[in-house]
Formats: sequence, C-alpha cells, structure tokens
Amino acid sequence: TIRRTTVPQIAARKGGEPIVSLTSYHAHTAAIVDKYADFILVGDSLGMVMHGMESTVGVPLDLMIMHGKAVVRGTQQALIVVDMPFGTYEESPNIAFRNAAKIMKETGCGAVKLEGGKRMAETIRFLTERGIPVMAHIGLTPQSSHVMGGFKTQGRDEDSWQLHEEDAKVVTEAGAFAIVLEGMVEPLAAKITKQVAVPTIGIGASAQCDGQILVLEDMLGLNPWTPKFVKEYGKLGAMIEQAVSDYADEVKTRAFPGEDQVYR
Ligand code: KIV
Ligand code: NA
Repeated sequence: TIRRTTVPQIAARKGGEPIVSLTSYHAHTAAIVDKYADFILVGDSLGMVMHGMESTVGVPLDLMIMHGKAVVRGTQQALIVVDMPFGTYEESPNIAFRNAAKIMKETGCGAVKLEGGKRMAETIRFLTERGIPVMAHIGLTPQSSHVMGGFKTQGRDEDSWQLHEEDAKVVTEAGAFAIVLEGMVEPLAAKITKQVAVPTIGIGASAQCDGQILVLEDMLGLNPWTPKFVKEYGKLGAMIEQAVSDYADEVKTRAFPGEDQVYR
C-alpha cells in the first residue's frame, strides 16, 4: 500500500522544491493528477466549473462531500484537501468543527481549506488542536466577492499590504499548515512568503510562492474564459468539440457504428 503525502510533509517543503498542486473534482482525472501533484484540492470552484453556478457562494456541503469522496477513491498518493464551502465555518469554531469533521469522516480527506485570515484565526486554532489540519486561503477570497465587489487583485495599493501580511502571520500562528495566496501582486506574495514559516501556495500570486495551484479545467483549456494568471497547458475544450462534431456527422451518415463496433 502506498502511503499518502502527509500534512507535515507538505509543511516541511517550506523554501524547498516547489509544491505542485491542482484541483480535481472527479475520480478519473484525479487519478492522473495524483501521479504528479503533492496535494489535490477539491475546491469549491467546482460550483462554477462543474455545476454552472455564478459564484462559489451557493455551493452546499453535500456537493463538496460527494466530489471529495470521488477524488479520494480515485487517488493513492496525494494529500487530499477539501474546501469548506461558504456558510459552513464562518459563524463559530464549533460549527466549523462539526462541518469539517463531517467532511473528513465522509470523504476520507486529509485536511480542509477555508477562506480568511485574522478573522478565522480562532477557528483555525480550534480545528487544528482537535485533529483537523487546516490550509488557510488569503488575498483574493472568492467567497467574499459580494463584499469586495467582484474578483479584484489584491495589494495593488501598498497601503493594503500590512493587512495581508498580518493575515498570513496570524493564520500561521493559529496552526495553518500552508496558506493559499490568491490574486495578489508579486512583491506582496514574495514578502509574505519570506515572512511566514509555512509554505505559501500561489494562484495568481507569482512564482515567488513555495508552490502553485491551478484549477485543472482552467489549465486544460476546458473553460470558455480564464483569468490572466492561468496558463493553458491543453486545449481540451477544442478537442471535445471536434470529437462531438465528428460523432454527430458519422451518426448522420451511418459511418458510425462501423465494422469494428458491430457484434456479428
Ligand atoms: O476552489 C478552488 O479552486 C480554490 C483555488 C485555490 C484553486 O480554492
Ligand atoms: Na476555493
């Protein structure tokens, strides 16, 4: 049996070889990602990517658990981290613990991720002290997009840096084993990465971070639109379209099913 990457192993990668991560929501794609990623995130971006929602705000806990189970089943090596969806952890440490424990028990994942810096510190401490490893997520936090007025790159104004630096420091002190830095200018991500003792995982936060994460479907070219920070390593959308249109043509001309697909 292959043992999965552990939380302490991820934490120990601070300042070392960059940590590789992607999201996955589905058993068979997760099995491919599992060969290359140190950890896999079952992100609440699945609401938009898999279910056509307009934001992550509407994602229910059960949906995270369903996709979390699929990804745990499909993988053997990577640490699996599952996002806590909006409304399941902000209210109190007790509620957060109840929902995080439900996620861990039902999916078999190794850690949870939640959005927020200073405001979530007490909860991060409460969870980690009780056996639930927490990855923090600061900078651009999509679950707060209604307050922020959209998805805005953070740290463009140097006056705001102090708040983000404080968030990173406080979540580290509270016990977070790693911190996702989303959508922030490079010098701020570099500064935070130098200041904290745990790995920073960047998404739209430059190569200065201790690791990188992308949404799998974004980097595969499966989404109709992607932000500037995404590099498309594949053209899956175009490939699917070609395959589907070839199939449609062949059905209409009776070229499919052909000799090879027929029982004699
Ligand atoms: O939900 C998500 O995909 C995320 C990112 C960090 C990739 O939280
Ligand atoms: Na997320």
